[in-house]
Amino acid sequence: MRAWNESEEVLRRAAERRALADEERLAAVREQGINLDPAARHRHGDVEHASDHEHPHGHSGSGERPVTGIIGAGPVGLALGVALAKAGWPVEAVASRDAGRRARFREHVPGVRAFHEAAALVDDVELVILAVPDDAVAPLAASLRLYAGQAIIHTSGLLGAEALEPALAAGSQAGAFHPLVAFANLDRALAALHGATIAIEGDDDLVAHLADMAEAIGGVPVRLPPGTKAAYHAAAVLAAGGVTALLDVIREIALVVGLDEAGAMRIYRPLLEQTVANAAALGIAGALTGPAVRGDAGTLQAHTAALAAGAPGALPAYRALVQRDIDIAQERGALAPETAARLRAVLAGEA
Ligand SMILES: NC(=O)c1ccc[n+]([C@@H]2O[C@H](COP(=O)([O-])OP(=O)(O)OC[C@H]3O[C@@H](n4cnc5c(N)ncnc54)[C@H](OP(=O)(O)O)[C@@H]3O)[C@@H](O)[C@H]2O)c1
Repeated sequence: MRAWNESEEVLRRAAERRALADEERLAAVREQGINLDPAARHRHGDVEHASDHEHPHGHSGSGERPVTGIIGAGPVGLALGVALAKAGWPVEAVASRDAGRRARFREHVPGVRAFHEAAALVDDVELVILAVPDDAVAPLAASLRLYAGQAIIHTSGLLGAEALEPALAAGSQAGAFHPLVAFANLDRALAALHGATIAIEGDDDLVAHLADMAEAIGGVPVRLPPGTKAAYHAAAVLAAGGVTALLDVIREIALVVGLDEAGAMRIYRPLLEQTVANAAALGIAGALTGPAVRGDAGTLQAHTAALAAGAPGALPAYRALVQRDIDIAQERGALAPETAARLRAVLAGEA
């Protein structure tokens, strides 16, 4: 395993960078709302030091966790920063182009150093976490340059570690760290990290650190089979955004009944939860109930007519999902082929 304290180049760069920090530069940086408070404190391992001490930044001791910086202070960057800091992980720095997000991050992770420029953060840490949109990962990596002993990872569920290759130099490593969590709200995301699957990727020595990092925040690290990440992520998108879309379809249909969103959630949520619990206990096919499994063509006819009249925007989703129910019912042996064909014709508006 690579020792994180081998990063001599990082230390040299950090020393050079501080030597260049003349008063003019400090003033300009402060003007942008960036934290360079000399009284600020930062952690090395479990020990806190005042930031005016002499030894260089970005340097963990032998066997310690890598000094870590996060680029991007959106929902994922912030939640990971908070979760890691709470777990005692040395989160040293954050880079965000937005003063409000930098301030919010520092509120939640006191003592962290905040940078405007992503490249400036790289000089100060050993492990760089890119928590930026998927499309920004490669261009951002191309604008960074690591040094021997450093590692860079992203949190994308889709991209592989190779997206970070432009940032690599000899002796540096790239990886990925994708928590299977919906980061819609900070507190809920922090709670959801406990027990969440976290897909990690990278060379074996880096992966050992990422597994440690995943476990530190309560997650369960996994390594996916090569070439399967896009499919893994597609399923995740359906488990989160796909279900959200379904909830929105239910909300739209419930409007016809006179229910607002809160009313729809109150009424349909127990049924949703029951369905998920049934699928977990009985298997997905075993959990299927409703007109598709009964072969009730008249019911489907009534539904499609009601939706066409009152909630036409919900019809395509209704048709697609009930088609899938008919597939499941057929595979379960619950529908004769001619019944299934009649149901499909009704759904398509052909009967
Ligand atoms: N959201 C989720 O539920 C979730 C779950 C698992 C994994 N992920 C993955 O985690 C990553 C971040 O997700 P997110 O939802 O936090 O993303 P986001 O809110 O869209 O963006 C996060 C931050 O990225 C920075 N950013 C945006 N565009 C950029 C650009 N062109 N160049 C440089 N920085 C840029 C912004 O930071 P500043 O403006 O502050 O600099 C922004 O706050 C993505 O790869 C995503 O796939 C997301």
